[in-house]
Amino acid sequence: MKKITAFLFFLGLLLPNLGCDPIEKEYTTWNVYGGSKENIRYSNLREIDTSNVIHLEKFWEFRTQDHDQYTQIQVNPIIIDKVLFGVSPKLKLFALDAATGLQKWLFDPYEVAPHEIQGAGYFSMNVCRGVTYYSDPNSKRIFYAAGSNLFCIDATTGLPISSFGEKGRLDLHNDLDRDASQLYIAMTSPGIIYKDLIIIGSRVNEGAVAAPGYIRAYDVHTGALRWKFHTIPKPGEEGYESWEDKEAWRNVGGANAWAGFSLDEKRGIVYAPIGSASYDFYGGKRKGDNLFANSILALDAATGNRIWHFQTVHHDVWDRDLPTAPALVTIKRNGREIDALAQPTKGGLVFLFDRTNGKALFPIEEIEVPTVSELKGEKLAPTQPWLVGIAPFARQAFTEKEINPLISKEEQALIKEKLKSLSTGFTFNPPSKRGTVIFPGYDGGAEWGGPAYDPETHLLYINSNEMPWILTMVEQQKKMDKTETNFMAGKRIYQNNCMACHGTNKKGSGNHPSLEGVEKKYSQASFNALIKSGRRMMPAFPQIQEADLEALASYILGLDDKKELLFKGATEKSNPYWDLPYTSTGYHKFLTEDGYPAIAPPWGTLNAINLNTGKIVWKVPIGETKEFLEKGIHTGTENYGGPIVTAGGLVFLAATKDGMFRAFNKKSGKLIWETKLPYPGFATPSTYTIDGKQYIVIACGGGKLGTPSGDVYVSFALK
Ligand code: HEC
Repeated sequence: MKKITAFLFFLGLLLPNLGCDPIEKEYTTWNVYGGSKENIRYSNLREIDTSNVIHLEKFWEFRTQDHDQYTQIQVNPIIIDKVLFGVSPKLKLFALDAATGLQKWLFDPYEVAPHEIQGAGYFSMNVCRGVTYYSDPNSKRIFYAAGSNLFCIDATTGLPISSFGEKGRLDLHNDLDRDASQLYIAMTSPGIIYKDLIIIGSRVNEGAVAAPGYIRAYDVHTGALRWKFHTIPKPGEEGYESWEDKEAWRNVGGANAWAGFSLDEKRGIVYAPIGSASYDFYGGKRKGDNLFANSILALDAATGNRIWHFQTVHHDVWDRDLPTAPALVTIKRNGREIDALAQPTKGGLVFLFDRTNGKALFPIEEIEVPTVSELKGEKLAPTQPWLVGIAPFARQAFTEKEINPLISKEEQALIKEKLKSLSTGFTFNPPSKRGTVIFPGYDGGAEWGGPAYDPETHLLYINSNEMPWILTMVEQQKKMDKTETNFMAGKRIYQNNCMACHGTNKKGSGNHPSLEGVEKKYSQASFNALIKSGRRMMPAFPQIQEADLEALASYILGLDDKKELLFKGATEKSNPYWDLPYTSTGYHKFLTEDGYPAIAPPWGTLNAINLNTGKIVWKVPIGETKEFLEKGIHTGTENYGGPIVTAGGLVFLAATKDGMFRAFNKKSGKLIWETKLPYPGFATPSTYTIDGKQYIVIACGGGKLGTPSGDVYVSFALK
């Protein structure tokens, strides 16, 4: 392998005049989440190219047969030695013959997980975006997470490797320097391998009761902890002073690397995109800049020591997590090559740094932002970083001029009135009680699909959502006097803990289901179990006590026998940091009566950005809305899952709500090929080659944006 790399490199040196830059690595495999540890979703394969892609056809499909009405598949599969590793909607890990799609083995985490452990998300089915492969002469291993378990599975047999951790499993609640046994923790994106370490992040609760998002590195053989990095620093550590409250580090959570990592293997630097601190939308109990939340962290991969960091949002109150690991790129400046890092954001920007030292390659200014909040106790940051010289890839404000022109004049007038009543027009307008427009939205700009980067042309490809959301803050409900009934208490507990997702009056919001009619599905016991353990994107609430659960059930399940009982008054929140004065009314998109975005299209775009110049080379809408397509209007749609780019001159992207899979000319953005998937592919494709044949595979799990859930992995090839 090394020899080939060296040869290609040498060849590259000889071929500087062929119109594109030589690249050092092969990029012919897809054995890492995101294609390579550089996380650039690039493949040097070129059998499928701009001239023949129109003949691309379905080659095999694999059905996992375990989906239900809520499931999704967000997996970017990996392929090693002709075997494809993927994960099913219910988090079963499987190995397929990558040439035929036939199953070799299946691992079901619920069969081996010890049943005596309950609660705190141990068994909850998180969403899984991929798995990690490790090999040495003695073993081949797959690491992946189900619930709060990190499993180490033999890649040849599908059986847990019992010498790792506790019978092949690590409990993610451990090693967090506080009792996190009752806190929700899971892992959506896979870890990354450096030498004999697996470096992992986590998904934690976005509410006040959240585990800290420490980054941890474990020995791949034994599961022993080798290092951890405190993303919420302890006294004496760099960044500690960015928290005004000296005890915050013990009590506040979040600041987690949920979107995975990229690795500069040669230099031994791991890069982590960090999410916001909890609670997302109110920071009165976490005053200060909150390092290392919302930061790009460059750590020594061997020790976990910080090399540099950059905070993209100070004291975040908008849920501006960094949603993807940065792409490790090389740019050209004044005839010189610079190893750089491109970090797309939910806000629609691409930050570009020298990856060795964190020096900004496009100027970043600290601009003044509004500092007056209606929310008592809040203290907003006076300035925020702003990029100069590199164009945003998403619109930056929703104002009157941008109202959706596809709706009637009357409705446009209504939207205009509503806009006037809201706080809008600037990304850093504070959360408010009258409502603040979050645009670009909670899901970007960029999301977890991440960017693709072409090392030959220095173009970065990034898909974007352009959906305005409305954030409305309300005061938390206070416990009433002795006359409070179970039903009233349940409503209060609901408003304080559940409304932020399930919306006012249990009607649902964003991707969170309505709870109307759930009494038909749940008994008090199964309801309690769900709340204690969570499920997929619903976090666990192990801290909610019995009496509160009973009250919640009387409100949500309408248990008549409990309704009129006086509330027994179980919970004052035990930790004052968890008892916040405000909560939000849910994740609400700003929509028209017919459910279209209130903003003018495009609602989803694919962008090609030249990283040498900072210029957008092309931008196309992605995804069609049937009604408007009939009138010749290309609206674009919301989208989840990323693009890949190939040496065959193509960018492949599924991701859109219309369930299509598309190939674009990477130079021009022209659509060359498209096909309908069995279910929308809210995932990033992978490409690989076996015996000279190139395959493109995409997981089609649907289940987002109101589309049906599915269970299919489809592979395409030239017949
Ligand atoms: C962070 C967002 C979030 C919060 C907070 C949240 N939920 Fe959920 N909830 C979800 C999601 C997402 C689902 C769908 C889960 C799935 O995929 O199975 C869900 C599902 C449910 C369901 C099952 C619905 C069904 O049709 O089967 C119930 C019941 C429920 N939640 C109750 C609650 C209660 C009670 C609370 C507060 C204690 C709460 N949730 C807090 C996101 C949330």
